[in-house]
Amino acid sequence: MLSSSSWNHRMRPIFFLLLFALSLAAAAVVFFPSSEFSTRFLSTTSSFKPFSTEKSVIWTAPRVFEWRPCSWWTLEALTALPERANGYIRVDCYGGLNQLRRDLCDGIGIARILNATLVLPKFEVAAYWNESSGFGDVFDVDYFIQETKGFIEIVRELPKEIASREPFKVDCSKRKGLFDYVEAVLPSLLEHRYISIAPAMSQRRDRYPLYAKAAFCQACYNALRLNKALESKALDLLNSIPKPFLSLHLRFEPDMVAYSQCQYSGLSSQSQEAIESARGDRKPWTGDSARIWRARGKCPLTPKETAFILKSLNIPTNTTIYLAAGDGIMEVEGFTSVYTNVYTKASFLSSEDIVQMHGNTKAALDYYVSINSDAYVATYFGNMDKMVSVMRTLKGKHKTLFLSRRGFSVRSAEGMRGDELREAMWREHREDFVTGRGLALPDCFCEFRL
Ligand SMILES: *[C@@H]1O[C@H](CO)[C@@H](O)[C@H](O)[C@H]1NC(C)=O
Ligand SMILES: *[C@@H]1O[C@H](CO)[C@@H](O)[C@H](O)[C@H]1NC(C)=O
Ligand SMILES: *[C@@H]1O[C@H](CO)[C@@H](O)[C@H](O)[C@H]1NC(C)=O
Repeated sequence: MLSSSSWNHRMRPIFFLLLFALSLAAAAVVFFPSSEFSTRFLSTTSSFKPFSTEKSVIWTAPRVFEWRPCSWWTLEALTALPERANGYIRVDCYGGLNQLRRDLCDGIGIARILNATLVLPKFEVAAYWNESSGFGDVFDVDYFIQETKGFIEIVRELPKEIASREPFKVDCSKRKGLFDYVEAVLPSLLEHRYISIAPAMSQRRDRYPLYAKAAFCQACYNALRLNKALESKALDLLNSIPKPFLSLHLRFEPDMVAYSQCQYSGLSSQSQEAIESARGDRKPWTGDSARIWRARGKCPLTPKETAFILKSLNIPTNTTIYLAAGDGIMEVEGFTSVYTNVYTKASFLSSEDIVQMHGNTKAALDYYVSINSDAYVATYFGNMDKMVSVMRTLKGKHKTLFLSRRGFSVRSAEGMRGDELREAMWREHREDFVTGRGLALPDCFCEFRL
C-alpha cells in the first residue's frame, strides 16, 4: 500500500492535469490573439499572494477546477442487462471497513464485465479486527439492491440448485484488467456457475465498457449507505460535535509508522518502544536510502508536523477539530498543544458503546462524521481518505485536502524552517486546493473548469 499505488494515485492526475494544461495552452494559442492569451494566463498565476499578506483560511482561495460525477454514469440511459447471466459471483472482502468497500466495489465492476449476477458479499473482517461484522451489520442491504437496479443484478438468495454449495474460489490475485477476467475468470464462471473472487488492489478499469464503469460507480458511491441502526448512532455523534468543525484523519499509530520504515527523531521513549514492538522484520531505512524514502513522501506526518501545516494554511488554532482516527495516535500532544479544541468519538459515545461496538462499526462512525463535516483534512492517502473524498465530492463539499508529506519533507530537507516553510506549504496546498488536483478522484469523476 505504501509503494507504487500511492505514487500512481498522486502522479496519474498530475499527468492528466499536465496534458490538460498543455491542450488548454494549445487551444488558447489557437483561439485568442497572443496578447489576450498572455493576460488571461498571467492573471491566473499572479493571483498568488505572498503568505505575509494572505490572512484568510485556505478554503477561501478561489478554485479553478472541480470534480463532478461524469455524465455517462449519472445521466445517460442505462445499457440493458444481458438476458441471461453467465453465473453468480460472490465478492470476498478482507481488511478494514474502507478496504472491504474498495474490494466490493472492484468486484462489482468485475461481475458486470462478466455479465454475472452478484450475491451479497462476504465481509471477512476477522483477520483484521478479530471480530465478526458482516455486510449487513454495516450497510443497508435493501438500499444497496434497490439503488443498483439496472446497473447490475444483485440477489439476496441463490437459486435452490446452487444455494447448497460453496462457490468455486477463483484466484484473482494477479488479475487487474478487462482481458484478464474475460480470458482467465469467465471460463470458471461458465463452468461452475457460482464462483467467489477476492479482487486484488489497483484494478484497471480503463478498458471497461462504460456500462461496467457505471455499475462500479453507482454501486460504490450511490448505493452504499450505513444501515439504519448505525446511521442513527452516527447521526447522534455528528449532532454532538460543535459546528462548524474540521474532521482530521491523523494517522500516526505505531503499526503504520513501523510499516513505513521511517525513522523519527524527537519521539518519546514510549512511542519509540511502541514502534519497535510493531516493527517485525521491516527494518527502518538508514542513511541515503532513508533520505530518499522520506523525500518521496513515504513517511507519515507526525501530529506536530500536522499542526504546523494546518497553521500554514491559516486554519485558526481554535477551530473545532474532530479527530477521525482509531485509538493509539502517538505524540498527539504535538497537535493538541497547538489546536486546543479537539474531540474524538470517545468524547461523545457512552462507555457501553465504546466497549460493544466493533472496529468496523466504529470506523463507520468516523467515516460518517467525515463525509458530513464542514472540512476534511487527511495526513495520509489511505482507503478511508479516498472514500471520504469521493463521498464529499458527491455531496458538493469541496473543503477537502490531503496534506503533502512529500512537499513537507522535500522543503524541510532543503533546509526550510519557520515562516519560509510555512509559506512553501501554503503555496503548495493552495495550488492543490485551487486545482482540485490533490483529490485524485478516479474513474467516476470528470474535471470541470469553474
Ligand atoms: C456481456 O453482454 C454484452 C451484451 O449485453 C456483450 O456484448 C458482452 O460480450 C458480454 N460479455 C461477456 C463476458 O459475456
Ligand atoms: C480473537 O478472539 C478469540 C475468541 O474470541 C480469542 O480467543 C483470541 O484471543 C482473540 N485474538 C486476539 C489477537 O485478540
Ligand atoms: C476563534 O477565535 C476567533 C478570534 O478570536 C473568534 O472570532 C472565533 O469565534 C473563535 N472560534 C471558535 C470556534 O471558538
